[in-house]
Amino acid sequence: MSVLIKGGRVITAADDYVGDVFVDGERISLIGESLDVAADRVIDAAGKYVLPGCIDPHTHLDMPFGGTVTIDDVESGQTSAAFGGTTCHVDFVIQPQGMTFGDALDEWKAKADGKQVIDMGYHMAITDLKNGGTLEELATLPEQGVTSYKLFMAYKGALMVDDETLFRTMQVAAQSGALVMVHAENGDVIDILVREALAAGHTEPLYHALTRPPEAEGEATNRAIQLAHLAGAPLYVVHVTCREAVEPIARARDAGWNVWGETCTQYFFNSLDDIAKPNFEGAKYVYSPPVRDKSNWDVLWNAVRTDALSVISTDHCAFLWDGQKTMGRDDFSKIPNGGPGLENRLQMIHEFGVRHGRISLNRMVELLATNPAKLFGLYPRKGTIAVGSDADIVIFDPERTHTISAATHHSKSDYNLFEGTEVTGTPELVLLRGQVLVENGELVASPGVGRFVARAKFGQELVPERVPA
Ligand code: URP
Ligand code: ZN
Ligand code: ZN
Repeated sequence: MSVLIKGGRVITAADDYVGDVFVDGERISLIGESLDVAADRVIDAAGKYVLPGCIDPHTHLDMPFGGTVTIDDVESGQTSAAFGGTTCHVDFVIQPQGMTFGDALDEWKAKADGKQVIDMGYHMAITDLKNGGTLEELATLPEQGVTSYKLFMAYKGALMVDDETLFRTMQVAAQSGALVMVHAENGDVIDILVREALAAGHTEPLYHALTRPPEAEGEATNRAIQLAHLAGAPLYVVHVTCREAVEPIARARDAGWNVWGETCTQYFFNSLDDIAKPNFEGAKYVYSPPVRDKSNWDVLWNAVRTDALSVISTDHCAFLWDGQKTMGRDDFSKIPNGGPGLENRLQMIHEFGVRHGRISLNRMVELLATNPAKLFGLYPRKGTIAVGSDADIVIFDPERTHTISAATHHSKSDYNLFEGTEVTGTPELVLLRGQVLVENGELVASPGVGRFVARAKFGQELVPERVPA
């Protein structure tokens, strides 16, 4: 099957030109002006943007968490992603306590089997180095294409690790070619503040935010940076929300340290006003780190402009409000942490980043596709539009308007963090390795088309697969 995409405005992290893109099989094989080639299908992209498929390096599908399981499994979560122009994501295997990493990886792969709509990889979230996985086993994961380790410095009594586990993992990563990712909040301090708030009778969702202050995020971020530097490991701080965390990352990057930071769509738009909503509606905005004071919105936009933060992900961790979030009606600490977001990242960042003049189109592509691909061992096979790259392509209509709503999104969640927001610009057609996934508002490919991608080690390239001679 070949596809010729004609006359679109091709935008990568570096380029912006009008041209034709020819896809032969799964890969892009020719780019030029007015290409004169026969194709099985010709797509007229005049007036549209031709973007690389977005990559979301931070999602949680079919994950047991907070006494329940996220509502989106691989099929519904990836369908939602595809409609939003995301063609590849990296999900977290959460090592069950006492289980080896290999068994945990197999368990997660089995959950995805036959359900994959887009391509995906896995990070390994380490919870236990004493009874299940060992440091020796951890060191072997990059050989299997799992080239990032995740550690939670919060969620005491559940996923949180101590500094010994954190530092030993960093030492392994420094040798094995993995990138270390941290959820940076001081879990011990948060645990004290939560218990104090509950003892004082504060049970409402707002107290989720008030018991996880920015200082707890700033302290853990700085601790992780210093420990990673000492261990010689590259570090990626996930879901950064506030000045207290941006500043140590910016300082480390200015000093030339191997440190990168990510924020998520919701942290530019949701705030304490949302989590304070009455009638338990605030529970929709319970995720960690929490929503912050609105003054942080500009801090984050500046950080993504200046490359203090290099990626915008979604941290998609969807629950139902009615039936899952309501588990914490009488106690905010029992509200499962997380929210939906996979579908609306490109629309929201295009509207409020590009159209509102905060970032360029090139920077948007860099934040949503190219930098995730480079940091997580997918580039240049993914994350750009180039000869030899996978034909993961979004035809984006910059003029079409769309109103974001849970009534029309494809996540199984019963609410949307950006409900009612009107955007101008939305994906019109999405290709995964040359195959049309989404067209005319329909998913036209069947689950099973997506694949596991074995990622390259940190700092190495994932060379495009060669067409057999
Ligand atoms: O609240 C969140 N973010 N839930 C998902 C787990 C995590 O901390 O990333
Ligand atoms: Zn987290
Ligand atoms: Zn997360």
